Amino acid sequence: MSRYTAFAWLLAFGIVFQLSHGVEVNVTDKEDMLCLYANLNVSFSVSYEVAGDRNKTIEFTLPNEVTTDGSKCDTTSSTLKLNFGTGHSWSVNFVMNGKVYQADSITFSYNLSDSTHFPESLSNETVSVTMKPQITNVGVDTCYSCKSKDMIQADLVNMTLSDVLIQAFVSNGSKSENITSCSADQPTTPAPPTTPATSTATAAPVTNFTSTAPPPTTTPTPTLPTPTTGKYSIKSDNSTFCLLANFGLRIGIKQGEKYQEMNLEPNMTKVSGSCGVNSSELQLVSNTMTIMFTFTNNTTKFQLHALNFTAKTTSGVEFSEVNTNLSLWEAAIGSSYMCNKEQNYTITNVLTLYTFNLQVQPFGVTKDVFSTAEECQADAESFLVPIAVGVALLVLILIVLLAYFIGRKRNMATGYESF
Ligand SMILES: *[C@@H]1O[C@H](CO)[C@@H](O)[C@H](O)[C@H]1NC(C)=O
Ligand SMILES: *[C@@H]1O[C@H](CO)[C@@H](O)[C@H](O)[C@H]1NC(C)=O
Ligand SMILES: *[C@@H]1O[C@H](CO)[C@@H](O)[C@H](O)[C@H]1NC(C)=O
Ligand SMILES: *[C@@H]1O[C@H](CO)[C@@H](O)[C@H](O)[C@H]1NC(C)=O
Ligand SMILES: *[C@@H]1O[C@H](CO)[C@@H](O)[C@H](O)[C@H]1NC(C)=O
Ligand SMILES: *[C@@H]1O[C@H](CO)[C@@H](O)[C@H](O)[C@H]1NC(C)=O
Ligand SMILES: *[C@@H]1O[C@H](CO)[C@@H](O)[C@H](O)[C@H]1NC(C)=O
Ligand SMILES: *[C@@H]1O[C@H](CO)[C@@H](O)[C@H](O)[C@H]1NC(C)=O
Ligand SMILES: *[C@@H]1O[C@H](CO)[C@@H](O)[C@H](O)[C@H]1NC(C)=O
Ligand SMILES: *[C@@H]1O[C@H](CO)[C@@H](O)[C@H](O)[C@H]1NC(C)=O
Ligand SMILES: *[C@@H]1O[C@H](CO)[C@@H](O)[C@H](O)[C@H]1NC(C)=O
Ligand SMILES: *[C@@H]1O[C@H](CO)[C@@H](O)[C@H](O)[C@H]1NC(C)=O
Repeated sequence: MSRYTAFAWLLAFGIVFQLSHGVEVNVTDKEDMLCLYANLNVSFSVSYEVAGDRNKTIEFTLPNEVTTDGSKCDTTSSTLKLNFGTGHSWSVNFVMNGKVYQADSITFSYNLSDSTHFPESLSNETVSVTMKPQITNVGVDTCYSCKSKDMIQADLVNMTLSDVLIQAFVSNGSKSENITSCSADQPTTPAPPTTPATSTATAAPVTNFTSTAPPPTTTPTPTLPTPTTGKYSIKSDNSTFCLLANFGLRIGIKQGEKYQEMNLEPNMTKVSGSCGVNSSELQLVSNTMTIMFTFTNNTTKFQLHALNFTAKTTSGVEFSEVNTNLSLWEAAIGSSYMCNKEQNYTITNVLTLYTFNLQVQPFGVTKDVFSTAEECQADAESFLVPIAVGVALLVLILIVLLAYFIGRKRNMATGYESF
């Protein structure tokens, strides 16, 4: 019994060890020279239909036993195809684009009649899904390296790449020592490239690349919950409130083809700022972002005039955007600005602000509470609908009453009894 356990452990460890090592393949061309190299881990999560109108989701990793039949190398395009199990395959298309190459698409085909991978599957078909990977701008004669996990999602399939080392368009039959790292692997601070020779990214900023690249894929971002409404305030020297701001905040940022959204968590946010005669500031600092709102007073009105946003994205890259020429959230001095409906504001072409249950008063706060609110257009419109409905109902009731009384009068006039 214990011997079997030990054996099972060894087996499990053996598999784990092999998995973390990655699947390594060499593709050779007609002259038997290396033309495509890959060493990577891929894990799949596949959802498929089973009896009773249900879906089952299973997970597995790319096994070590793969064949490369169907792979091919040409001068400007090449394909890596890894076949495994009974009729499953995973393939990537690479295209050369001047001084860089990229992975255009990843196609994953899976044979649902394989009952070891897909038990109880209703369908027995082979399904193919094609996805767009984020492997772009890889310098020619360099390996693409990405140790970080990269999840690619489709309707029924999620796949996660990790510890990826790939070189397409290998020249002279030997793998390059030079590496183009993915952005997720890059150090968090945009430090000057003082990295050792082996990791000098040669993916030069190729200006024409973008124009020839396919349109950015809008990767479906998981929808975030509505952000919690935070209540922020600043006190003046004499310890009365001089700035009040309530809102739920979501930030959308675009980095290349990636779009990412994050919510500001009020209970993890530090508030600071200052009130002036002509300008007031509110700074919110959370573990993920720093936002500075600058409000100005132009004698009769105030407005949000500048916004300075800094964050670290999930891939660890520093992100900073400033716009000092805004005219948002405008209201008369002595009142507050309010907008309960969700609003979005384009701050810069890569930064979008979403607000929920917004009310701000950066000047002239008295008695520590908001003054009369000036409401945004969207709120005003949503008020009109119930008013219109109310008025219509009232008119209807009047008509009915009128009809009733007229009817009664007539009945009385003709002498009928009426109840
Ligand atoms: C799919 O799997 C079934 C059962 O494992 C096998 O008989 C069939 O040949 C496979 N299909 C392909 C295209 O390999
Ligand atoms: C696949 O299933 C259909 C019916 O669901 C059946 O007619 C067909 O023979 C099956 N094909 C294979 C290769 O098992
Ligand atoms: C893919 O990932 C998303 C987000 O993590 C999840 O909601 C979805 O169920 C996953 N799909 C599959 C097939 O695993
Ligand atoms: C790769 O690195 C070596 C040494 O740093 C350098 O001489 C060579 O030019 C590099 N090759 C490419 C394609 O950048
Ligand atoms: C970019 O493309 C235009 C025309 O498509 C060409 O005139 C220009 O020289 C190219 N620039 C570079 C840096 O390749
Ligand atoms: C506190 O200072 C503000 C101006 O900064 C002034 O309007 C207000 O009257 C002061 N309140 C008290 C209690 O002194
Ligand atoms: C912050 O608020 C969220 C819900 O809004 C809650 O789940 C979380 O526990 C809170 N964290 C702290 C530190 O209070
Ligand atoms: C707004 O600015 C005007 C002129 O600069 C000033 O007179 C007024 O007191 C300011 N209002 C507040 C609330 O600070
Ligand atoms: C506020 O602006 C007015 C006119 O724009 C100027 O006269 C005044 O000195 C400014 N006050 C402060 C405190 O900067
Ligand atoms: C924006 O904020 C960052 C960090 O807080 C700061 O370094 C930068 O100078 C600010 N930019 C402007 C234009 O205020
Ligand atoms: C600020 O915005 C206004 C209108 O929105 C525009 O006319 C002006 O050119 C902008 N100024 C700068 C410096 O961007
Ligand atoms: C932004 O708001 C406008 C209306 O104000 C709306 O039509 C649009 O769909 C919103 N965009 C997003 C991304 O929410």
